[in-house]
Amino acid sequence: MYVISGATGNTGKAAAKKLLQAGKKVRALVRNVERAGDLGALGAEVVAGDLSDRAGLTHALSGAEGLYLLSPPDMASQSFLAERARLLADVAGIVKSAAVPHVVFLSSVGGQHETGTGIIQTVHAGEVALRAVGVPSTFLRAAYFVENWGSVLPVAKQDGVLPSFIPGDLRLPMVSTADIGSLAAEALLDGPRGERVLELSGPQDVTPKEVAAVVSKLLGRTIQLVEPPLEAVVPTFTSFGISADVAGLFRDMYQGIRSGRVSFEGGKAEARRGATSLEETLRQLAK
Ligand SMILES: NC(=O)c1ccc[n+]([C@@H]2O[C@H](COP(=O)([O-])OP(=O)(O)OC[C@H]3O[C@@H](n4cnc5c(N)ncnc54)[C@H](OP(=O)(O)O)[C@@H]3O)[C@@H](O)[C@H]2O)c1
Repeated sequence: MYVISGATGNTGKAAAKKLLQAGKKVRALVRNVERAGDLGALGAEVVAGDLSDRAGLTHALSGAEGLYLLSPPDMASQSFLAERARLLADVAGIVKSAAVPHVVFLSSVGGQHETGTGIIQTVHAGEVALRAVGVPSTFLRAAYFVENWGSVLPVAKQDGVLPSFIPGDLRLPMVSTADIGSLAAEALLDGPRGERVLELSGPQDVTPKEVAAVVSKLLGRTIQLVEPPLEAVVPTFTSFGISADVAGLFRDMYQGIRSGRVSFEGGKAEARRGATSLEETLRQLAK
């Protein structure tokens, strides 16, 4: 039986469904069972729990062959890095005590770096915490999510422009969350292999201008890419209710993308590519 955290979210739901399709038992950890959607009907055991609830998490992990773990977002946090480092260290300790044999942890491109990557530093802390307790772990370092463009598609529809804090001509890996869920499920089924690093991109690397071209095609009108300066990140993000602390970490991440620090480590890491095209995911998001 595999425990899936974040099972109401993009990657957790995809991982849970992939495992269920493979005939495996899945325990979906959700904070609110009403948000579990069709997971129960598909055969998952849906349990209410929070990663910050020691007793509940320990209970949820009993008998698990593996855990899919993500660092849950908290866009309102005033002290995001410190809070997430604490949470992930606690979770790692609980996983160790519960004798879970394998964790697949959703990390990120750039997750190998301790500093200079903004919000990605959180998942670096998660990797460090799992390594420290010695639980065999697969670090699934995913590229920039294609789904991130979903937040600016309404602007494209309304104003005909696609704002991007990533320079228009910068080619970088982007991946759809469906492919992340699939690879997470595959890695869980592979079981523990000591420390393993999977670096996942989409079918091909793309530029934001190419994203705008696909959006133009989908919307049937020309969508112009606009590139606001980095100084606009914090005011833009805080205007959506994100804390100044988290907004600053996004700015630092975009800076890291621009400088090239947010990139895959290579070396012993296994490079993978997903199968879902940029157009397919953007079409779903644009609906
Ligand atoms: N965006 C990117 O480009 C990118 C790239 C690489 C890695 N990442 C990583 O991907 C993560 C997001 O993954 P995703 O898109 O699959 O997630 P998501 O769709 O944003 O959903 C977050 C999930 O976490 C759950 N959650 C929130 N707080 C929790 C808590 N305290 N305890 C247990 N569960 C909690 C949510 O449950 P509820 O339904 O109860 O809210 C939801 O299921 C980010 O946090 C980041 O670490 C992102």
